[in-house]
Amino acid sequence: MSVTISPIHEEQGHYWNGQCFRSHGGCGAAVIGQGLRIRQQQQWGELPFICSCYPHISRVENAIVAEGDRAWPLDRVIAEELQRIAPYAKTALRMRRAFTSRVIQCAIDEGITQFVELGSGHLHTSAARAAVIGADAGQEPTIVLVDHDPLVVAYGQGDLEDDPNARHRSAMVRGNVFAVGKMLTYLAKQRLLDLDQRACVLGVDLLHFAEPEIDGRSVPQRLARRLHPGSFVAITHLTDEPLLAPANADDLVALRAVTARWCRAHQRCVPPHPRPCSVEEFARLVADLDLLDPGITTTRCWPEPEETRHPRAPYTLAAVGRIPERRPDASRRGAP
Ligand SMILES: C[S@@+](CC[C@H](N)C(=O)[O-])C[C@H]1O[C@@H](n2cnc3c(N)ncnc32)[C@H](O)[C@@H]1O
Repeated sequence: MSVTISPIHEEQGHYWNGQCFRSHGGCGAAVIGQGLRIRQQQQWGELPFICSCYPHISRVENAIVAEGDRAWPLDRVIAEELQRIAPYAKTALRMRRAFTSRVIQCAIDEGITQFVELGSGHLHTSAARAAVIGADAGQEPTIVLVDHDPLVVAYGQGDLEDDPNARHRSAMVRGNVFAVGKMLTYLAKQRLLDLDQRACVLGVDLLHFAEPEIDGRSVPQRLARRLHPGSFVAITHLTDEPLLAPANADDLVALRAVTARWCRAHQRCVPPHPRPCSVEEFARLVADLDLLDPGITTTRCWPEPEETRHPRAPYTLAAVGRIPERRPDASRRGAP
């Protein structure tokens, strides 16, 4: 049966206003109320209900890359709106998947066999999981996917139940990645992550979901304190500032305008909502890592330097770094 979806026009229809439409059995957002977005982000992973009133970013992205796979009609409407705003969206998501695969292969080549994907989205479409499971490596690498969306986690755990072979190589857990210290402790206790061995942690298109009150740098910073030295951390972030000066001024104006409309359209979803950072802010985010060459680049180009002077939105910065050796006086294994 084919479903006809009426297109939505920018600035028409619903945007997130802090209220769940449903008076009973909704997501609980109405209980948390408006103006408390930071609390909402921290508590989102613990909300008792799945909200069906608003689209969700993980399903919207699936609708863009996997043509509606497990997306609800409203998710597909927003996916279409995003692609109208940024025709490059689908290619950008494919580039992001290719970036993830390259990072995982690079870590495997360095002998790393445990992987954690923060803010993973759906398990069955996870590029990270596909790369780990498909890796041609004798040591059988493992991956833990972490997301705070209860539906993403429920689907993922269901998929693993259906595939006993995959279960010993992958796990899916629900958690708020902005409480990353607590999450690492949980993963270690569950024996899903050995903090005495090197790991590769991916925060791909995640930190731009931090509410303004949350310092996104706290995530790589805590990873640097807790992960074994030599571990890899990959970070990407939306920006409206190109790394190289655009070939003409119109490209820069278009990049800024399209990125702003792209972020505005995301506000039709339940929070969190993305915000772009500047190149300088991104450099600060990854300052606790020893960056691999070429330092800060884009998901499209890594491990090569950025070379385009015609940036298109969504334009995403990327860097992959190693956890540096800890100074003898700075052993903070127990730190949060
Ligand atoms: C852009 S999507 C998925 C990106 C995924 N890393 C990839 O490369 O395909 C971002 C995901 O982060 C999740 N997310 C956002 N904030 C989170 C948080 N505080 N804790 C855990 N997951 C979060 C969302 O639920 C969503 O599934």
